[in-house]
Parts: sequence; C-alpha cells; structure tokens
Amino acid sequence: MTMIAGIGIDLIETSRIRDTLDKFGDRFFRRVFTPKEVDYCKSMKFPDRHLAARFAAKEAVGKCFGTGIGGGLGWKDIEITHSELGEPLVELHGGGLELAQRLGIREVRVSLSHTESYGCAVAVAEK
Ligand SMILES: CC(C)(COP(=O)(O)OP(=O)(O)OC[C@H]1O[C@@H](n2cnc3c(N)ncnc32)[C@H](O)[C@@H]1OP(=O)(O)O)[C@@H](O)C(=O)NCCC(=O)NCCS
Repeated sequence: MTMIAGIGIDLIETSRIRDTLDKFGDRFFRRVFTPKEVDYCKSMKFPDRHLAARFAAKEAVGKCFGTGIGGGLGWKDIEITHSELGEPLVELHGGGLELAQRLGIREVRVSLSHTESYGCAVAVAEK
C-alpha cells in the first residue's frame, strides 16, 4: 500500500534566479543544476522561468524529506527530468538516494508551475 511520507512546497521569484545568474553565471548552473536540467531550460523560450521552477522543485523535495537542502542532501542529488508527455519526474542521486532509502521513501513526485514572475513546485514523498 502506498502512503504519503511527506509533502513540500516552494515558491520563488524568477528575478532572484536571474540576478544570481547575472552575478555568478555558469558557477551557479554547475552548483545547483544537472547538465540535463540546464539543457532543458536553455532550450525553452524563457529559461529563467523553468530554472526557477526547478530551483523551487529542489527546495520542495528537500521539504518533503523533512530535512531541507544542505547537510546530506545536495542540490544535484535531486534532478528533475520528464516523461514523454512533459510530466516532471524526480530522479534522486547520491545523498538523495541514501536519504530516501533511510526514510523508506520509494518515490518522490513533483508538480511545477511558472509565470513571468514566479516559479512554484509541490512535492510528495511516497512510502
Ligand atoms: C501542459 C500543461 C499542464 C502546462 O500547464 P500551464 O498552465 O500551461 O503551465 P504551468 O506553468 O502551470 O506548468 C508548466 C509545467 O507543467 C508541467 N507539465 C507539462 N506537461 C505535464 C504533464 N503532462 N503532466 C504533468 N505536468 C506537466 C511541466 O513541469 C511544466 O514546466 P517545465 O516545462 O518547466 O517542466 C497545460 O498547458 C496543458 O494541460 N495543456 C494541454 C495539453 C497540452 O498542450 N499538452 C502538451 C503535451 S502534448
């Protein structure tokens, strides 16, 4: 039987991502996003919005684990990919996988939304 082990939500201003990118450029990309995530966002008409939603998604996943980002859970331990229909999927790596195993979490789901000004995500952990 599937049970909900945690939920998380996050909302971020797209301008915050834009400002960080202007200031730190590729360093920010490399620290926070995986190459697949960067490629996807750069292929879109408004990359900042997709990056903001992914940033929010990582924070939301951190919240649904009950730990937040940092410590054992790094930014790139949580990767957002896609199904063929465009549904966002969570792939865990490294510390993310370890934490999920420790907490008995089998799957983490996310939903994203974005506008010109905000990126938003909700995450649910299932056990
Ligand atoms: C696809 C759709 C759900 C996106 O909603 P929206 O209000 O236009 O845009 P939002 O900003 O709220 O959401 C965008 C996010 O929806 C998510 N999304 C896209 N397709 C999805 C799907 N099939 N299931 C769940 N989530 C989906 C993505 O995460 C996307 O963000 P991303 O590109 O950064 O990953 C909506 O446009 C829709 O239902 N369209 C009709 C069907 C359609 O055009 N499908 C296209 C694929 S055939």
